Amino acid sequence: MGPLYDAELDKGRGTGQIIVGPGDDAGIYRLGNMTIVETVDFMTPIVNDPFLFGAISAINSLSDVYAMGGRPVAAMAVAAFPSCDYDIGVLKAILKGAIDSLKKTGAFLIGGHSINAVELQFGLAVTGVVNEDDILKVGGARDGDLLLLTKPLGIGILTTALKNRAIEDDEINEAVNWMLTINDVASRLAVQAKASACTDVTGFGLLGHANNMLRDTTADFIISYDDVPKLQKTRELAGRGICPGGAYKNLSFVSGSAEFAKHIDKERQLILSDPQTSGGLLITLAPDKLKIFEESNVFYAVIGRVVKGSGKIVVE
Ligand code: CO
Ligand code: CO
Repeated sequence: MGPLYDAELDKGRGTGQIIVGPGDDAGIYRLGNMTIVETVDFMTPIVNDPFLFGAISAINSLSDVYAMGGRPVAAMAVAAFPSCDYDIGVLKAILKGAIDSLKKTGAFLIGGHSINAVELQFGLAVTGVVNEDDILKVGGARDGDLLLLTKPLGIGILTTALKNRAIEDDEINEAVNWMLTINDVASRLAVQAKASACTDVTGFGLLGHANNMLRDTTADFIISYDDVPKLQKTRELAGRGICPGGAYKNLSFVSGSAEFAKHIDKERQLILSDPQTSGGLLITLAPDKLKIFEESNVFYAVIGRVVKGSGKIVVE
């Protein structure tokens, strides 16, 4: 992949070619001799500290580039800011947090746009590059593959608990550390392992994103509930009925395609549907490629396997 745009290569075919269109984690197009990944994401605050919120939101936005097997190079900030309610210092701290995260990936903040709004929201539009041979698409899981997840679930439940003052500020630290974990290394390993499919687990929860992976495939996922990693307090909080509304929506969305064993009660189903912010990668790969993860320091869990089927998720 050359670093410069070569206009010669685009002669006779317009301004570029779409390689991956809407429906995946990010869009990908070829421009000259470069293959470019683009995505945008923004969100309402999930932690009280503005610097931390900016840092997390940035890593969440960058994640879709990694979910495609790419690497981010530049970003634009997108902000909705209630200037009557907050001091401008808050927005500055959010931006500082985002820049701090971008620095860790080697990408630059090159601009942005903010509007005055009732509700605070912040995120990034990210541009990345990718080797065309390395592109990781959401579809493509094959019979016999293993299903891997690279971060524990429960981020939505924990952040909801924080908002409802059901946990103390320091009890969110474990979730915050995971949200601050960049999916770069996991993505590189997935590329090395020639993963058959990859996506990042975000707002639709594990089941929702698994369902997206199975669209247009002749495969089923068999997921083992006990093998799915969960943040420490997830189970206890879900048991107390602390669960974001999104989890209920996600669960009803997959109701037609998910089957649960008897012991997988509603609470467990909701945990698997918990919307994640800056969640891990969900990866399918051939069993003989698992050693690439085994030999790394990256957190992962084999949570299930792929069998021939019709797009169903079976949770045991
Ligand atoms: Co995504
Ligand atoms: Co996204």
